[in-house]
Amino acid sequence: MFPNGEEFGRSGKVIYGVRNPAIMDLLLIAVSGIYLFLPALLPNSAAVLLGGGTPVDFGRTWRGKRILGDGKTWRGLFGGVAAGTALGMAMVLATDALDSPDIWRYGDLAQGAGLVFVMALGALLGDMAGAFIKRRLGMERGQKAPVLDQYDFVVGGLGLTALLYPSWVASHYIDGESIVALLALLVFVPLLHRLVNIIGFKLGKKKEPW
Ligand code: CTP
Ligand code: MG
Repeated sequence: MFPNGEEFGRSGKVIYGVRNPAIMDLLLIAVSGIYLFLPALLPNSAAVLLGGGTPVDFGRTWRGKRILGDGKTWRGLFGGVAAGTALGMAMVLATDALDSPDIWRYGDLAQGAGLVFVMALGALLGDMAGAFIKRRLGMERGQKAPVLDQYDFVVGGLGLTALLYPSWVASHYIDGESIVALLALLVFVPLLHRLVNIIGFKLGKKKEPW
């Protein structure tokens, strides 16, 4: 997607015919990796604010334990997906209006709409898969599960997107220097998640600071 430096900065040097990206370019790719993932990051916080009511598992148990638990509700799911998709659509329209370079984009309008929806949905499906695993391990709702709590929605969001939009994910998170975007996600998302949860906890919106 960005082999010749045409897509973003032109500061990279060409060595033996291969463009060597400059630090600035790599930084931009890292920032774009987080930015493009915002539609998958917002749903979690939105679910905290909008959630409540009927649980997704309707209170049912499996082998004596709740399937998902009271922390996963329909309102949280729909509210979270709607919030992530709305933010994503605003980003799609803004980058389109600004004619932004490809690293900041989801493709054309139709692909953009599909992508941001799938990202938001995937993130909350991943969050529910995480809760499913926690219940199977006998962990109570809200009990701390390191790694799982910080990455379930990353794996869900990026995984479902990779399944449905493989070439977009490859060009923005995997191929060549764009792998820096994936590394940025893996490093910064847990920190961001933790920070947002501490804020939510302090505001009294969240029961635990993780
Ligand atoms: N939430 C919701 N519906 C969802 C996801 C989250 O209503 N699909 C709300 C719940 O109020 C939940 C809060 O957001 O308690 C925080 O989400 P999370 O930390 O993922 O859930 P936990 O309460 O920690 O439960 P679990 O142990 O199942 O992860
Ligand atoms: Mg939790």
